[in-house]
Amino acid sequence: MRKKVSIVGSGNVGATAAHWIASKELADVVLIDIVEGVPQGKGLDLLEAMPIEKRDSHITGTNDYADTANSDIVVITAGIPRKPGMSRDDLLNTNHKIMSDVVSKVVKHSPNCIIIVVSNPLDAMAQAAYKLSGFPRERVIGMAGVLDSARFRTFIAEELNVSVENVNAFVLGGHGDTMVPLPRYSTVAGIPITELIEKSRLEAIVQRTRDGGAEIVKYLKTGSAYYAPSSAATEMVEAILKDKKKILPCAVYLEGEYGIKGLFVGVPVKLGAKGVEQIIEIKLTPEEKAGLDKSAAAVKELVGVIGV
Ligand code: LAC
Repeated sequence: MRKKVSIVGSGNVGATAAHWIASKELADVVLIDIVEGVPQGKGLDLLEAMPIEKRDSHITGTNDYADTANSDIVVITAGIPRKPGMSRDDLLNTNHKIMSDVVSKVVKHSPNCIIIVVSNPLDAMAQAAYKLSGFPRERVIGMAGVLDSARFRTFIAEELNVSVENVNAFVLGGHGDTMVPLPRYSTVAGIPITELIEKSRLEAIVQRTRDGGAEIVKYLKTGSAYYAPSSAATEMVEAILKDKKKILPCAVYLEGEYGIKGLFVGVPVKLGAKGVEQIIEIKLTPEEKAGLDKSAAAVKELVGVIGV
């Protein structure tokens, strides 16, 4: 039987995630939204591309959570996006309300699924989904680190004029201004970038990574990025459905790892069929640890506001 992935929210991120997932034939896809017609229309349109793409993924659009029943994975993208001048944190209360409504319905129809949260502010929304779902922490995962490190990798590849495939990069911490790109653990064909890019250039690249989301919002004016965010969620979906045991930076609920307890923060994890199969603890310098703690404190403040 084919795997089933439901995507909550048929806006740009949700619909583009459906596109990546179907075009890679990873699963059948259900697009669900409260807006009538949009998930149906986008779902049917994508389905009609499948003969051309030579893919047998089945895509449906719906407004009824019954159609999402027994999903293997549910990707939650629902929520309002940022406009220029807004931070991800400005979305907190509105998206928390949406999350409360969505998660109860997701859990009712797919009690064994793995939830991937994409809505912003990411870490706080992941924590809300985790608490609302009652799922074990292995099955509620936030998408941020894959996106942030993809941006970091893009800028490194451009700087050195090398293939993006040669670039590995790590970004820890929350998905916000306090995220912690780790140059020491970022490499090009195994060579640490600290040996390839001089300090001031590297600092500029790190800052551009931190501002990566805002850079796109500034161009688009009416919304935020969606190709790279949905691609990042798709990489997580693939790692889980194919049980790849892939190590990726994801937001997970820490219970003492990295000295952080009771909070969603981005760290390297192993993703496989069970969801988060291992949290990988790497050694940090005092400066890197301070950056991670600062980032965790920012997440803590947000979850305090919504009380999750
Ligand atoms: C970004 C938004 C989607 O980083 O959080 O582009």
